[in-house]
Amino acid sequence: MLFLLAACTGADDPTPPDSSSATTTDVTWYRDIEPISYAKCAACHDGTGVGPGDWTSYEEASAAGDRIAWWVDQGEMPLPASDPECRTYAGHERMNLTDEEIAALVAWGDGGTPLGDEADQTPDLSIPVVTLTDTDTDLPMFEAHTLQLNDQGNEYWCQVLDNPFEETTYITGIDVDLGDREVVHHMVLAIDQNKNAGIEYGTDGATAQFECSNPVVESDWLLIHAWTPGMEPVEFAEGQGYKVEPDQQIVLQMHYFGDPAETYTDLSTYRFRTTDSVDQVVEMGAFGPTDFQIAPGDGAATATDGLKNTFGTDIEILGAFPHMHLLGSHFRSWVASDDTEICVLDGRYDFDHQMTYMFEEPVDLKEGDRLKFECTWDNSAGTETVSFGEGTDEEMCFLLFYYTY
Ligand code: HEC
Repeated sequence: MLFLLAACTGADDPTPPDSSSATTTDVTWYRDIEPISYAKCAACHDGTGVGPGDWTSYEEASAAGDRIAWWVDQGEMPLPASDPECRTYAGHERMNLTDEEIAALVAWGDGGTPLGDEADQTPDLSIPVVTLTDTDTDLPMFEAHTLQLNDQGNEYWCQVLDNPFEETTYITGIDVDLGDREVVHHMVLAIDQNKNAGIEYGTDGATAQFECSNPVVESDWLLIHAWTPGMEPVEFAEGQGYKVEPDQQIVLQMHYFGDPAETYTDLSTYRFRTTDSVDQVVEMGAFGPTDFQIAPGDGAATATDGLKNTFGTDIEILGAFPHMHLLGSHFRSWVASDDTEICVLDGRYDFDHQMTYMFEEPVDLKEGDRLKFECTWDNSAGTETVSFGEGTDEEMCFLLFYYTY
């Protein structure tokens, strides 16, 4: 991380590395910065989150002042998210800074980080809670897994889980508890419609856990959820839920990525909020191109795919999850009908901040309309052509989406 910072600041940092601490601004911690830090930074930077430092503390934030100014000025913090001007989604205010907030953070960080007058402090500041606190059902891996990473550091491991439901149940909220955050690169939870998970990976279809790198998922899996780094909980609107029957086979695919020389053990858990009846059943779809080639040196390679609504009825898209790997730099999704284009997602991509964007208003996908998805990758520093694959060193371009009708 320090290396990353040094590399960045060396290239085009507008701030001298040892900027002076003389106060040159009237923006203060108590009046202006502390509320922004609580609302928009502390969920990750509170001493226990995924970002370094505890920036609810004046001392720590002040010591990082010039770095805060630099990262915010570059548009790199908070981590990139879809542009709310395209479409608003749960948490969008928290994930994006206003122009005024950017100006304040930069002025404060570069201007000597004044503390100001305690009388200006906003009372009762709190850090946003970004886990589900009202789940009622845990679905853990049935046993801890000791990783067997290949030479590239990847492993795909599947377990058939114990279905925790005793009657028809609707999932209304989904969250995860990771066993080892350092190595979990994705989790996919699915229903195997033929109750023979593993068969397409070469098992007899009755094995409780197995290696599962190829195919990406089995052809008879109905996706329930996918987790990737940065993912926040998914919550459906009142009256909507994902249906699971007690006799269905639930399978979990873990993608691990780590140092092949190290030993890791993981036991991760899904957590659900559930109900016994809903007005609308939610399902999950996915599509994306697989035949792309990303040339070395190409800083803006793109691939696009579309999914035509042939469901036989109009559908509503409730949320969507754009997925690429480490070279991903931008994503865009829109609905194309005869004469219009409706923006669904548009944003810079960061592997560490992959989101299922749950829309404040659902997107109509009428019969015959197309849902389009475009990925952009930056391979400017690469020396080899990168193509489709599941490994973290290969690339993907998938849009997963929740819908109802
Ligand atoms: C969703 C999580 C998240 C949020 C929200 C977030 N950050 Fe970060 N931040 C990170 C992570 C993770 C890193 C580690 C570097 C990386 O991976 O890019 C980081 C690194 C940084 C760094 C560089 C590290 C250092 O100590 O110099 C700065 C500065 C920073 N963030 C500032 C901010 C500010 C200011 C905000 C709020 C306006 C913010 N971040 C909001 C996750 C977050």
